[in-house]
Amino acid sequence: MIKVSSSKRLERTDVLIVFAEEPASKDVKPLHKWDALTGDLSRKLAAALEKENFRGKVGQTFVWHAGDAKTERVIVAGLGKAAARNVDLTVRGAGAAAKKAKEIGATKVVAALPPAGKMGEDRNAQAVAEGLILGAYEFNAYRQPKESKAYDAAEILGAPEKAVKLAETYARATIYARDLINTPAGDCAPRHLAEAAKKLAGPNVKVTVWGKKEIEAKGMGGLIGIGKGSDEPYHFIMLKYEGKKGSKKVAIVGKGITFDSGGLCIKPADGMGTMKCDMSGAAAVLATFAALPELKPDCTVYGYIPAAENMTGGSAVKTGDVLRTASGRTIEVNNTDAEGRVVLADAITIAREDKPDEMIDLATLTGAVVVALGDQVAGMFTNDDTLAAGLDAASKRAGERLWRMPIVQEYRDLLKSDIADIKNSGGRWAGAIQGALFLQEWAGDQPWAHLDIAGPAWTDRGLSFCPPGGTGFGVRTLLEYITAQGK
Ligand code: BES
Ligand code: MN
Ligand code: ZN
Repeated sequence: MIKVSSSKRLERTDVLIVFAEEPASKDVKPLHKWDALTGDLSRKLAAALEKENFRGKVGQTFVWHAGDAKTERVIVAGLGKAAARNVDLTVRGAGAAAKKAKEIGATKVVAALPPAGKMGEDRNAQAVAEGLILGAYEFNAYRQPKESKAYDAAEILGAPEKAVKLAETYARATIYARDLINTPAGDCAPRHLAEAAKKLAGPNVKVTVWGKKEIEAKGMGGLIGIGKGSDEPYHFIMLKYEGKKGSKKVAIVGKGITFDSGGLCIKPADGMGTMKCDMSGAAAVLATFAALPELKPDCTVYGYIPAAENMTGGSAVKTGDVLRTASGRTIEVNNTDAEGRVVLADAITIAREDKPDEMIDLATLTGAVVVALGDQVAGMFTNDDTLAAGLDAASKRAGERLWRMPIVQEYRDLLKSDIADIKNSGGRWAGAIQGALFLQEWAGDQPWAHLDIAGPAWTDRGLSFCPPGGTGFGVRTLLEYITAQGK
């Protein structure tokens, strides 16, 4: 991970990054003045931008050879219109600048801060720093050489020290999740998630991993049913961060299907290609626990991960099989590819035994939510308006996108089973809502939110702040949410 620091003034650099906002209308000329550049250079750069018809759109970049004693090259990165500026767009703009700096082989990078606007100085600087780190991310574990050729440090002129530190913590956690998601399923089975969890144990973090024996003893037939078709043993992972005594208790639950072949209802090849990402919810939970000891929130946080591989082995669950979950409720598995909700049913039941004040699950649960919201927005389903508002605000502060979706009780009929208490799939209509309705059956009246992150957990094309692969979506929202909870 590249290291970001704050510096007082521009000394010498290979590449200087400056930002440009888009004029309010197409008839207005951009007005550009950069404090980090002398008046003369600033004017010349503005003229060059005009010739290039650079409008400052989010993600747009321009490389200029300043040939100045202090800076060889300047990257101008667009941030969009001033009125629309927020954390999300700032991370995207800074991410594009970092990507460009790598592309042109920068050896040293210094960035000048854009106007903070409504965000305030701290959050503006934090967003720029996060963009610079996340945009430079590469996953090279399976390549030669493993070392990135990119610069390994960046300076931000005049950035508040604590904003830079916070950005490093958030970005490190996000990258932790990306690395786990990008690791091929062959090297990231449930036992690897369990190992990763154990490494997070420390003075304030307790980690417990259940194997077959404990899971059977608890009667977690959902997790067993989905996991038993694989040669890789299933696990149930629990983490606890101890906050202040008597503080609020937040439970986070992450879907940990380390590979989703679809089971006997096997996926077609092109739908299976990215299914190592089906543990992105679990990765977000683990990444959160990796950062909590640094952030030291007041509240107590519980983490739960049902980890299994959804495979087609000789003992795989068959369509029509009925599984008895830890709650006693039974599930008719009429589609083995709707496996996430089945393992989460058991996870939610175990989580409720710890009596959390709130529960948030993150799951790459449905293709339907990707049809509805695409790959940039997660669907939020919740039975609690306060939780909805809290998560919405946290996601905005973090620069991640959530959109609340309805839990339409009338659709519960679609999941009626002729033989069990519920079936796990009710056909094509409102698929994402069906997923939420199913989970709600186990969440009951527990204040609960379900984030269907099937879209934004992964990027096929790459984003300005993330190469193709796992994105680490949800980590920053969780950290924002948790650190805002006191009691
Ligand atoms: N893991 C998939 C959902 C998914 C799809 C995640 C695309 C990421 C990208 C999930 O287990 C699944 O297969 N869901 C089925 C449910 C259906 C059978 C009811 C789906 O969405 O098709
Ligand atoms: Mn599936
Ligand atoms: Zn799945």
